[in-house]
Amino acid sequence: MSEKLKQIANEVTRRRTFAIISHPDAGKTTLTEKFLLFGGAIREAGSVKSRRAQKYAVSDWMEIEKQRGISVTSSVLQFEYDHCCINILDTPGHQDFSEDTYRTLMAADCAVMVIDSAKGVEAQTKKLFHVCKMRGIPIFTFINKMDRQGLDPFELIEDIEKVLDIRSCPINWPIGAGKHFKGVYNRQKSQIELFGEGNHGQSKTKTIAGDLDDPKFEELLGTSLHQQLLGDIELLDVAGDAYDLERIHAGDLTPVFFGSALTNFGVEPFLQDFLKMSLPPRPRESNEGEISPTSEDLTGFIFKIQANMNPAHRDRIAFLRICSGKFEKGMTVNHIRSGKKIKLAQPQQFLAQDRIIVETAYPGDIIGLHDPGIFNIGDTLSEKSTTMAFQGIPSFAPEHFAKVTIKNSLKRKQFLKGIQQLSEEGTIQVYKRPNIGVEELIVGVVGVLQFEVLEYRLKHEYNVDMLIQTLSYRYIRWIDPKTFNPDKFSITMDTLLVQNDLEQPVLLFQNEWSINQLIDRNKGLILHETSL
Ligand code: G4P
Repeated sequence: MSEKLKQIANEVTRRRTFAIISHPDAGKTTLTEKFLLFGGAIREAGSVKSRRAQKYAVSDWMEIEKQRGISVTSSVLQFEYDHCCINILDTPGHQDFSEDTYRTLMAADCAVMVIDSAKGVEAQTKKLFHVCKMRGIPIFTFINKMDRQGLDPFELIEDIEKVLDIRSCPINWPIGAGKHFKGVYNRQKSQIELFGEGNHGQSKTKTIAGDLDDPKFEELLGTSLHQQLLGDIELLDVAGDAYDLERIHAGDLTPVFFGSALTNFGVEPFLQDFLKMSLPPRPRESNEGEISPTSEDLTGFIFKIQANMNPAHRDRIAFLRICSGKFEKGMTVNHIRSGKKIKLAQPQQFLAQDRIIVETAYPGDIIGLHDPGIFNIGDTLSEKSTTMAFQGIPSFAPEHFAKVTIKNSLKRKQFLKGIQQLSEEGTIQVYKRPNIGVEELIVGVVGVLQFEVLEYRLKHEYNVDMLIQTLSYRYIRWIDPKTFNPDKFSITMDTLLVQNDLEQPVLLFQNEWSINQLIDRNKGLILHETSL
């Protein structure tokens, strides 16, 4: 094996790339911050939020985010812990930006699901969980906020299994809750881990470990808590699913951890177990079969495009997930869709608080490429191959539609440029009505907040004022062009016929009833629910 291949294999083994999914407020940011703290990437808790605050200061379109207190777009963080190199893909919690999260999950090898112990499985967790399930990636559950009085741990486990339809296996079990949350019982090591007092989660806490029957614990916990723990453990051992790493890797069984991100309780043991149980990057499907991460050819795909991260430079960054080989700064790769060669001159990596220029990167890593308008979401890059392409990233069906017109037609050029850019980033989907000029377009979004982003960004980045008139359509169907004959096509009253950028026919409906009615009227017409 060549030195280079050995090095790639080594680096792949120590890589872990995951996304954190949760309903807003469950504690995703706090948990991420604690991971960075243990990795030594930050010295004090609070830095991630202040980093966000800094970002707001320079990035004016994110004003919306600031005002609403939500995280609009995903970011990527890399840090080292215990010889592992960890990439965390942060995802926006707000449901209106779930499309961005869906795409980010395509770049993750597994997911950490954070659940608020007082709330159980919430709406957004459920949606995101299903995307992970669709991809068949392993899901690790962290039940957070155990320092507050929450639901009974058995109830939480039942909730996860019932609502999400996945089996679970608690890896640790909480001892007490709320003010009396003392620590956890580690079922694999069969030992109690009690937490020492931390300085309000600002740094690591000390752990006192020992066996369940060690008399010191009865003394430390008190007889009633100790007895309850013994009872809980017995019940878990007989009633719960057994630990099975293969089922975890297949996404059929979720290992469950209890803790409190804010006070650091159970966070480091979770991180350690997570690193042991999760897998390094695995082979990925392509049109030419599976691509092994340890092959020599550098390959990767673009899963996200973000414009104007630095408004002073008007830059646009395409995020590349590396799938195989070794990336080296300045190398030239094939851009499969266009057939062009591209030099990757100034790639960036996101190390905890800073963006830095990256010299080398390996499978599992995410790098930001300067994008002068070449990349689309789902594009494959390859060092050697000119034909290989990873499976595309599906675009999710928009559920809200609006008619968009410019107020001043002299700004037509800027308007179209802005719309095109946002469409390439995947923020909006754009349609045209046949025989109507491009000054009036139909825009589809997954969440209504994206209309605000559209309006804000067109005004601030392109100096274009526009009118957004929301429409009552809720469903979109792509007509199979082979089954479409415009002369024979019979449209129903409350349906709108539009065209995508390839001038293919697309239909917008107000309700499912009208979809059925249209199918009845047009025998042989085939409608698709996704555009791929
Ligand atoms: P998110 O990214 O999932 O939206 O959640 P985030 O970490 O921002 O946490 C949401 C709120 O929950 C924050 O409170 C945070 O301090 C709190 N929190 C996170 N983990 C825990 C935990 O383990 N225990 C308790 N008790 N609270 C936790 P906030 O008041 O909204 O913000 P802040 O003023 O504390 O920053």
